Amino acid sequence: MTTEKRQALVTGGAKGIGRGVVHDLLEHGWQVAAMDVDGTALDALGEAPELTRITGDVADEGAVKAAVARLDWLDLLVSNAGIAGPENGPVEDLSLDEWNRRIATNLTGSFLMAKHCVPKLRAAQGSIVVVTSTRAFMSEPHTEAYAASKGGLTALTHALAVSLGPAIRVNAVAPGWIVTGDPGELRPEDHAQHPAGRAGTPADIAEAVRYLADAGFVTGQTITVDGGMTVKMIYEE
Ligand SMILES: NC(=O)c1ccc[n+]([C@@H]2O[C@H](COP(=O)([O-])OP(=O)(O)OC[C@H]3O[C@@H](n4cnc5c(N)ncnc54)[C@H](O)[C@@H]3O)[C@@H](O)[C@H]2O)c1
Repeated sequence: MTTEKRQALVTGGAKGIGRGVVHDLLEHGWQVAAMDVDGTALDALGEAPELTRITGDVADEGAVKAAVARLDWLDLLVSNAGIAGPENGPVEDLSLDEWNRRIATNLTGSFLMAKHCVPKLRAAQGSIVVVTSTRAFMSEPHTEAYAASKGGLTALTHALAVSLGPAIRVNAVAPGWIVTGDPGELRPEDHAQHPAGRAGTPADIAEAVRYLADAGFVTGQTITVDGGMTVKMIYEE
């Protein structure tokens, strides 16, 4: 099928960062399919003729296959779905089930999405943008499963880039603190500790996603979008 519009599939597109990416791509002339486990939140995305809603779990291969089959063509996969809260409690109390649940959604989900999107992306000479986290590189205590899943995504990104190039470019965005709830809940010092002077917004990540979608000489990279927090040296006095 030929179309003038490029099409993106955004996982975890119903809320938070994914929702911001969906609206940003729609505003910039893309056709967008938003996939999410939360069908109610998908319904609340608002009306847009270029928007397709797909309820499905990225960790379920059958659901992933069915979701991708609904699309006639695909130019961009934004692999964003994740269990966003990083805390898993003390590692000695972390159950294998809870570890597996986080790895399944955050890491295996991106593998499954890439696997099933490859034929359509290859036909379109498209690209993949994975949403990881600065927690792939640094940690707070009691976040092993989340950190490992995001570190795995950084490695998955460069491995896919080498396997799938030159037809498909694969990059990642590593967000820092992105405010997806009520901005009023942040204290002035929450913003001020960032070298950029503020915490991030979904629009900051959407901008990076759009840059990577068109950055023809960039592949295998993870771009950090964190207001400078990962380059700030902190020694407590
Ligand atoms: N908000 C931040 O500060 C921040 C920082 C770094 C990285 N991230 C990453 O950004 C991504 C989005 O985070 P967010 O803050 O917008 O979280 P969020 O919870 O607001 O949104 C995540 C979305 O993913 C969906 N989802 C969860 N599990 C799913 C599954 N198995 N299949 C399909 N959809 C599923 C949820 O329903 C939700 O709509 C996550 O991968 C998260 O790890 C967020």
